[in-house]
Amino acid sequence: MALWSGRFVEGADESTQAFGASLPVDKELYAEDIAGSKAHATMLAGCGIISTDDAKAIQDGLDQIADDIESGRFTFDVNDEDIHMAIESKLTEMIGQAGARLHTGRSRNDQVATDTRLHMKRRALALMQANCRFRRVLLEKAEACLGIILPGYTHMQHAQPVLFSHHLLAYSWMFARDFTRLKAAYDAADANPLGSAALAGTTYPLDRFQTTELLGFSHPIPNSMDAVSDRDFLLDIMYAASVSCLHLSRLCEEIILWSTSEFGFVTLSDAFSTGSSIMPQKKNPDFAELIRGKSGRVVGDLVSLMVTLKGLPLAYNKDLQEDKECALDAVRTLEDCLMCASGMIETMSVNEEVMFAQTKRGHLAATDVADYLAKRGVPFRRAHEIVGHLVLLCEERGCQLEDLSIDDYRAECDLFEEDIMDEMRMDKIVDARKTYGGTGTDAVRAQMEEAAASLREDEGICM
Ligand code: ARG
Repeated sequence: MALWSGRFVEGADESTQAFGASLPVDKELYAEDIAGSKAHATMLAGCGIISTDDAKAIQDGLDQIADDIESGRFTFDVNDEDIHMAIESKLTEMIGQAGARLHTGRSRNDQVATDTRLHMKRRALALMQANCRFRRVLLEKAEACLGIILPGYTHMQHAQPVLFSHHLLAYSWMFARDFTRLKAAYDAADANPLGSAALAGTTYPLDRFQTTELLGFSHPIPNSMDAVSDRDFLLDIMYAASVSCLHLSRLCEEIILWSTSEFGFVTLSDAFSTGSSIMPQKKNPDFAELIRGKSGRVVGDLVSLMVTLKGLPLAYNKDLQEDKECALDAVRTLEDCLMCASGMIETMSVNEEVMFAQTKRGHLAATDVADYLAKRGVPFRRAHEIVGHLVLLCEERGCQLEDLSIDDYRAECDLFEEDIMDEMRMDKIVDARKTYGGTGTDAVRAQMEEAAASLREDEGICM
């Protein structure tokens, strides 16, 4: 029988039962639903609204239900629309009258908002931890690879040589920003709606500050209508998850490219690759592709909730029930992706010689040759032109800047000396970029320390 059967003569049409239910999705919130109910009962007794005996019976009953759900003994009734009704009706079945008093001064509207916020705080924290673990993997890889040089690209064309560690650290900073966004999403969820009841507050002398403290929220939400209808905190975590998934997707795209025969820069471990059912030779970067693919779904989750919220009048509307499926999917997916990406990067081997061999193509030294002249007084624009001519000469001869003779150089400009040959060494070019944030070995070492310090600070917040 429905909770509202008093006002109804007919039962619900059978077809609406499954359509209206959120139980298959909000089952996941059972622990938070029980925590919220226990806090509510404690507070009701504390305020003299129910007896301490009733509160005790409620607490014990809820503990029993938690055990039953955890051990798989709990049977969910298909007639229960959501986790709130499933638990409350079981409680009342178990302890009678006392159970029926639990919902005093409460509505499922503030209840579901409370459960979802508690749950998202937990999930945001788990994501912050997964973020730190992933950054630790990136940092360790960057440390282990220090000294490996590869072409840096712009427009996917060879540009200037960079340290592979520098390239990896670029990602670690993206994930450091993701941490900040996840933390902000945690903070946004950290406010207590309980005690707002259906929309207007309640006539019972509730103590919302007590449930706030019992549930570990930072403060009660100041407006009961906002409390039951705000889902911004879900948008926040879904946006944070979307951006983080995009970052993973970009990295995975590079890993996919790097593991092609054309690049051959990295080799994924067997544990993070799959074969083909027909082509015996194949080793595919499926998991990198899946992470790239899943990121699209997470962005879709965010857009789906934004569109659901747009145009909703105050206060609670049933549309809001659609919030959990996409929000839970987004956080679950990011958590899975971070875990998979951590293992993939940890076990990936980096092919130093193959990377270095590519620095021999695409005239990577060109900027430095122009800088060489500019440092000897030639205006940079003119130096650029001179080197442009030299590159053209190389293209005609089918060689690289490093293959031209000193006479070729001097024919273009007599400021070139023998030392230009040494200036074109890739390690020298890399190490010359000593400015803060540059790819020189010393600058990268300093950057690594900075990244490690930022990681330690974030680990301190969530671990
Ligand atoms: N299952 C509902 C949800 O997830 C709980 C709140 C229902 N409230 C109501 N007035 N129908 O949003």
